[in-house]
Amino acid sequence: MKKIVVFGDTTFAGIVAEYINSTEFACVVAFTVNSSFIKNRTLFEGFPLVPFEEIEQQYNPNDYKMLIAISAASGIKHLNSIKFYEAKKKGYQLFSFVHPTAFIANSATIGENVIIFPHAIVEPRAKIGNGVFVRSAGYISHETEIGAFSYVAPRAAFSGKIKTGDHCFFGTNSTIRDNIIIGNDVIVGAGATVLNSLPNETILKAAECKIIPIDRFKLKL
Ligand SMILES: CC(C)(COP(=O)(O)OP(=O)(O)OC[C@H]1O[C@@H](n2cnc3c(N)ncnc32)[C@H](O)[C@@H]1OP(=O)(O)O)[C@@H](O)C(=O)NCCC(=O)NCCS
Repeated sequence: MKKIVVFGDTTFAGIVAEYINSTEFACVVAFTVNSSFIKNRTLFEGFPLVPFEEIEQQYNPNDYKMLIAISAASGIKHLNSIKFYEAKKKGYQLFSFVHPTAFIANSATIGENVIIFPHAIVEPRAKIGNGVFVRSAGYISHETEIGAFSYVAPRAAFSGKIKTGDHCFFGTNSTIRDNIIIGNDVIVGAGATVLNSLPNETILKAAECKIIPIDRFKLKL
């Protein structure tokens, strides 16, 4: 059984830990964040919460792996990759977690510190970069490459042969058409449809549905 220290103390980190602890091949033993974020706490989700600055003294990198679980909502630019390299410098191997209900094709490749949530699908020859999170039912079609530290929200769907840059965010139920190239640091909003390649740092927001201002029971369905 692999023993994991999770970097993070948010809802996202708690969800990831619950999924890991529901398996028989890995378990979370502690959480860590920088000391300035500890604020007199000693526990998170019932597990020890340890300052990152001293984590290697309590959890030896030879015996424990680390998983950086910082969600896309962290306002600090590229925080997950910064912590990824700091953890490596301390001597930790980064753990990748694939939920047992996810499907990963044999010819797909998965980087370090990747999290694949329940019922996600990664098709043949797809490449998932370091630090990528694919949330529940995310769909990564054949030969698509998801750049490092990108976040694929629930049910986001990528057609084939797409290449994305690093540090991108794809919102819930977004749809990305085949054969396009997406730059670095792109945000695709929930429900948005992407039909063309996008340059670095583009933000796309989906059009909202219209509110019809009449009595709900006067409308024929
Ligand atoms: C794309 C997305 C991030 C946009 O966010 P939003 O809050 O709806 O965007 P808004 O239209 O309110 O604009 C955001 C900001 O940009 C500013 N803005 C919008 N249009 C602008 C313009 N033309 N010029 C300058 N500023 C503009 C707004 O004023 C606002 O600024 P503020 O935060 O200081 O008030 C959001 O719609 C989305 O899809 N989020 C992802 C949800 C999701 O999938 N979560 C998954 C979790 S697992």
